[in-house]
Amino acid sequence: MPKLENNRMQNDPYAWIEKSLKSIEKAGWHRSTKTIDRPGTVIQIDDRDYLNFASNDYLGLATDDRLINAAIEATRNYGTGSTGSRLITGHRALHQELETAIAHLKQTEDAIVFSSGYLANLGAIAALVGKRDLVLLDQYNHSSLRNGAIVSGATTIDYAHCDSQDLRTKLEQQRQHFQHSLIITDTVFSMDGDLCPLPEILDLADEFECMVLVDEAHATGVMGATGAGCIEHFGCTGRAIVQMGTLSKALGSLGGYIAGSAQLIDFLRNRAPTWIYTTGLSPADTAAALAAIRIVQQEQERRTQLWQNVAYLKSQLSNLELLPSESPILCWQLSTVQTALEAAKCLQSEGIFAPAIRPPTVPTSRIRMTVMATHERGQIDRLVAALNRAKIEQKSNPLIP
Ligand SMILES: Cc1ncc(COP(=O)(O)O)c(C=O)c1O
Repeated sequence: MPKLENNRMQNDPYAWIEKSLKSIEKAGWHRSTKTIDRPGTVIQIDDRDYLNFASNDYLGLATDDRLINAAIEATRNYGTGSTGSRLITGHRALHQELETAIAHLKQTEDAIVFSSGYLANLGAIAALVGKRDLVLLDQYNHSSLRNGAIVSGATTIDYAHCDSQDLRTKLEQQRQHFQHSLIITDTVFSMDGDLCPLPEILDLADEFECMVLVDEAHATGVMGATGAGCIEHFGCTGRAIVQMGTLSKALGSLGGYIAGSAQLIDFLRNRAPTWIYTTGLSPADTAAALAAIRIVQQEQERRTQLWQNVAYLKSQLSNLELLPSESPILCWQLSTVQTALEAAKCLQSEGIFAPAIRPPTVPTSRIRMTVMATHERGQIDRLVAALNRAKIEQKSNPLIP
């Protein structure tokens, strides 16, 4: 190779990206997008129909006409974009209505809506803690919580998953060295389906003078008698908690929020960079989320149907090794990446979409299934039959350990 060209390659500041991609591929961790042509319980990929057991649309609201019509009407009235940040030109009466509705659902004084759940976590955590503070995180917390803690500059310490004894030990060792302290946990763990020990965490927070931020992304609309989430499920409504959630899962729209005391929300409006320095949520997303909250509050039967579906599926899967779950997220635990990929492939050949989730996203490989209120009994039966076939195929495959 001529010397000049050789030098150029050596000096290419982007050359490391190719190398990095190669090692991602070598580890079997490479991921890419899949086009889903039709949303709902039956989706279409590459012209073939699949039963969808991978959606976060737990109540089936993302395709509900009332949300669609609300989004269309808001677009007609206010346009497609919010055109500016909320503090300059991007605030509409619709935003206020949505924030009031969230606060009402969550039984808090106020709420603030961000453009996504990820941004809500980043902005709120970075506003609440800084260099002289301590953040304690459940080891399985969502990426947005983890990155929020990193962005804040606080000292971050993990405690063992759902282990309040380990949290106590870490608080005893560390709390006195820091000014403010924030305990952060998902309430429903999205890749496992289990719940955090919220009452114990709140008691520890009181004892050690800590703030608590809970991520109700997979709980809102799903958990609790009125769909308010795990705080309601655990009977902890009214306690001092920073409640985060997303509008993009059971609420079928897009966006995130923090609900809490009026002072907390006022503080975030003045200090959360991912709210101050970004364009307000679009009118369509805002109106769809507002319509969804009304449905969550008025149609208890949707939640009842969801939980009936969860109970039925669980009752049919007693022969599979499931991770402990108290939510509509059910995981079939598998021993290796290879077995999980084989199982997902087998399910796909049976017309079922339920992906393999593997390291580094989770510590152990699994098939993750999510149940929707709109799944019909016959669709769940088809999933069960396909899972049984995938299990038999694994047993008979000599290449699978
Ligand atoms: C637990 C949890 N928190 C936060 C988020 C981020 O929410 P959003 O999709 O609204 O950005 C997600 C979504 O993937 C999540 O699962």
